[in-house]
Amino acid sequence: MIKKYTFGNPIKTESVIVSVEQSQGMPEYGEINLTEGFKFTYEMSPDDIVYGLGEANRGINKRGYIYTSNCTDDPNHLEETVSLYGAHNFIIVSGEKTYGLYIDYPSKLTFDIGYTKVDELLISCEDADLDLYVIYDENAYDIVKQFRKIIGRSYIPPKFAFGYGQSRWGYVTEEDFFNVAKGYRENHIPIDMIYMDIDYMERYKDFTISDEFPDFSEFVRKMKEDNIHLIPIIDAGVKIEKGYDVYEEGVANNYFCKREDGSDFVAAVWPGYTHFPDVLNPEVRKWFGAKYKLLTDSGIDGFWNDMNEPAIFYTPEGIQKTKKIMKEFINSEETVDSVWDLRDRFNDLANHPDDYTAFYHDVNGEKIRHDKVHNLYGFNMTRAAGEALEEISPDKRCLLFSRSSYIGMHRYGGIWTGDNKSWWSHLLLNIKMMPSLNMCGFLYTGADLGGFGADTSRELLLRWLAFGVFTPLMRNHAALGTREQECYKFENTEDFRHVIGVRYRLLPYLYSEFMKAALNDDMYLKPLSFEYPDDEMAKDVEDQLMLGNEAMIAPVYTQNAKGRYVYLPEEMMLIKFLPDGSISKETMQKGHHYISVPLNVVPLFIRKGKSIPVVDFAESVAEINPDSMQLVGYEGSTYMLYEDDGYTRNYNMSSNMRTVK
Ligand code: GLC
Repeated sequence: MIKKYTFGNPIKTESVIVSVEQSQGMPEYGEINLTEGFKFTYEMSPDDIVYGLGEANRGINKRGYIYTSNCTDDPNHLEETVSLYGAHNFIIVSGEKTYGLYIDYPSKLTFDIGYTKVDELLISCEDADLDLYVIYDENAYDIVKQFRKIIGRSYIPPKFAFGYGQSRWGYVTEEDFFNVAKGYRENHIPIDMIYMDIDYMERYKDFTISDEFPDFSEFVRKMKEDNIHLIPIIDAGVKIEKGYDVYEEGVANNYFCKREDGSDFVAAVWPGYTHFPDVLNPEVRKWFGAKYKLLTDSGIDGFWNDMNEPAIFYTPEGIQKTKKIMKEFINSEETVDSVWDLRDRFNDLANHPDDYTAFYHDVNGEKIRHDKVHNLYGFNMTRAAGEALEEISPDKRCLLFSRSSYIGMHRYGGIWTGDNKSWWSHLLLNIKMMPSLNMCGFLYTGADLGGFGADTSRELLLRWLAFGVFTPLMRNHAALGTREQECYKFENTEDFRHVIGVRYRLLPYLYSEFMKAALNDDMYLKPLSFEYPDDEMAKDVEDQLMLGNEAMIAPVYTQNAKGRYVYLPEEMMLIKFLPDGSISKETMQKGHHYISVPLNVVPLFIRKGKSIPVVDFAESVAEINPDSMQLVGYEGSTYMLYEDDGYTRNYNMSSNMRTVK
């Protein structure tokens, strides 16, 4: 049962697409106070667990900390970070009373989940203009399924997007890309995608190609011949440059976000000063989305949308203020405080709250200040692309994912989790975040494997890849200036070949489970407690995940570990993909175990009485041989495989299923 309560005059976000009957009065649990903005308080029982929040910091159980939905470009995902790139306002209280809450509110919203007061859940925001959905069911998992029904089906990428991808900020020339392709192919490490970061553009101008690619279509074609898809980045800000068509058209048609005085708002991002397309306006979405055709016409079939919180490095107004402060600094006596203030002033230039209140959107003729709808920007930029790509190629799926997001965007594209670091703690964070993202509808997701910022190590990369084998988006990405982390740059490349190879051996299974989750509004990666709700021990497990209906994963995420402890909520079969290509099997009883996991081994648990299909090693998705499929797991069991052509949008659940024996 879902109840909807409307307070004030909410902004329409279009995150919920199924109509839910309006309820009067107040929700059954918790208290609502409307005297100062909106406040929902609920007294949690000591053992209550709180799930949800999608792309948020810390654990699967969100209890014990504070989180703010405020899409932020902050590359330092520290333990104390309260806002990341997404805003996913869905939580589930599970325990003495079990219910879900979705707060459809596109501005800043805070979830204090037992942080200020240990037993108090406090959800608060500035304006009491929102829709509150309260979902009742037996358990957390059923609440997720109900929620997913009202927000619509998750985005489905083409099958090649389940292959492995290499990315790095800093590939500039055709040769750079060919070298990456060569590095992988020559070492027989599987790969399906190479990502094109901002340097493929002419001076970081969206929808342009730099002179380094004299015949771009031919370049794309050549790569495809080698089963490699090139995936370019598109940034939110449009460079201000006379004669640049996207800029000129945007200005002429009033398609950019405006300042209060009606002039186009200016913010510096990678290209220097830019304007932000007002993607909250449907006409602008159509215009901006249609631009992707310039690249699809050259054979491009995938994109990543970036900087769409939108990120602001600084504004001319911010710089003016800073210059004034500098002058004052120069003309006054130097003190420790004045030096520190100046330093802070520079640090504060980026993503400054003042800048987010200095521009406006035109939403169906209504002028809305940006901060009131801040969390909808990335959603609508990706919606613009998603809708356009569907029009451009109605029969063909396109790969699309975004950095910033709001619930509802999951219908148009996936997400990656932004600028993490080459830290072991970020591998663990990646593990914990995946099921929460699935709860909010984001199924096609993954982190920058190996870590984006800072220098990775061979061991960290291998362990992260061994987890990435199971995340729908499997991409190795690194920042400019960091240690090179293409797999062939390390010793003993055969270990990388093997670990990534396991992804390809499991690909039909992973794809099948992903598709079942997407088509049934279900989850692909789940906390153990969702499958074993009566198992008290399972509730505490945050570093193992249930995968699909048949499997459980237990990644290694510590340096120098030879293996790890696992908890089995029931008897399971541990299979290990060994470097010689063989698969070892061992049945293990319910309970705690230590398992040894050498760096070049990928372990997987199969649930009692089940089995999964495995195919032979392949170097690209197109080269997978379906005839090599065999079942691994409990004898006598069968598997229901979902299969389709991998690129059309004909997802027919019943006719695309077959039993594998
Ligand atoms: C942002 C993105 C990152 C990209 C960089 C340069 O930091 O999150 O993935 O490499 O911009 O475009």
